[in-house]
Amino acid sequence: MLPGKVLVIGGGVVGFHAAQMAVGMGADVTILDRDAEVLERLDNHFEGRAKTRFSNLAVVQQMVQEAELVIGAVLVPGAAAPKLVTRAMLKTMKPGAVLVDVAIDQGGCFETSHATTHAEPTYVVDGIVHYCVANMPGAVARTSTYALNNVTLPHALRIADLGWQAALKANQHLANGLNVHAGKVTYEAVATELGYAYTPVADFLG
Ligand SMILES: NC(=O)c1ccc[n+]([C@@H]2O[C@H](COP(=O)([O-])OP(=O)(O)OC[C@H]3O[C@@H](n4cnc5c(N)ncnc54)[C@H](O)[C@@H]3O)[C@@H](O)[C@H]2O)c1
Repeated sequence: MLPGKVLVIGGGVVGFHAAQMAVGMGADVTILDRDAEVLERLDNHFEGRAKTRFSNLAVVQQMVQEAELVIGAVLVPGAAAPKLVTRAMLKTMKPGAVLVDVAIDQGGCFETSHATTHAEPTYVVDGIVHYCVANMPGAVARTSTYALNNVTLPHALRIADLGWQAALKANQHLANGLNVHAGKVTYEAVATELGYAYTPVADFLG
């Protein structure tokens, strides 16, 4: 038997770990990304155990036809995820192939995705199984809550200690996280996506 083909679209945190698992199970893994530095980093890490390719429409179109499993793990910060696998492409895929849309919490990166929960995680469109659970870590709620708190609690404590304005002034990453204040949208990509005027965070920090 030839190894199953796994296509990972988006080679960030999610894509890297998905690829790592698939490589560990002996699959034939390809990772697509649009950032050359990301591809280089992945290539150095996997040393040939996973292939990397620059992501564009033609490559996605070709690679989904061969895949048994496609994992959508793209992120365009602040914006809705781009629809990279279209409904028309499903008809070109192997019957019974599986699409996992991890980016569903950002709107999903497959045209036929809609958010599901662990209660009923999958559905089938044109013979292709879709898994689009918007909160996947909810499967291990206690562990994932501890993991999240370990990295977010220090920020919450800093805001509590200093007040939000001083905390954001002192830490650019916190300032980057402010989306809305006093009825103004302070995150440019969110403002653009939703058609609101953009007000820079700095305007509120004095
Ligand atoms: N459903 C869930 O439970 C769950 C859990 C964790 C993360 N997520 C979501 O998964 C997505 C990925 O998260 P992440 O932390 O890995 O983000 P990340 O920023 O680490 O990685 C995203 C990658 O996508 C790439 N990318 C952007 N546009 C692309 C395109 N057109 N083609 C190919 N690659 C493209 C970027 O270059 C980047 O390397 C996010 O939408 C996140 O919200 C969902």
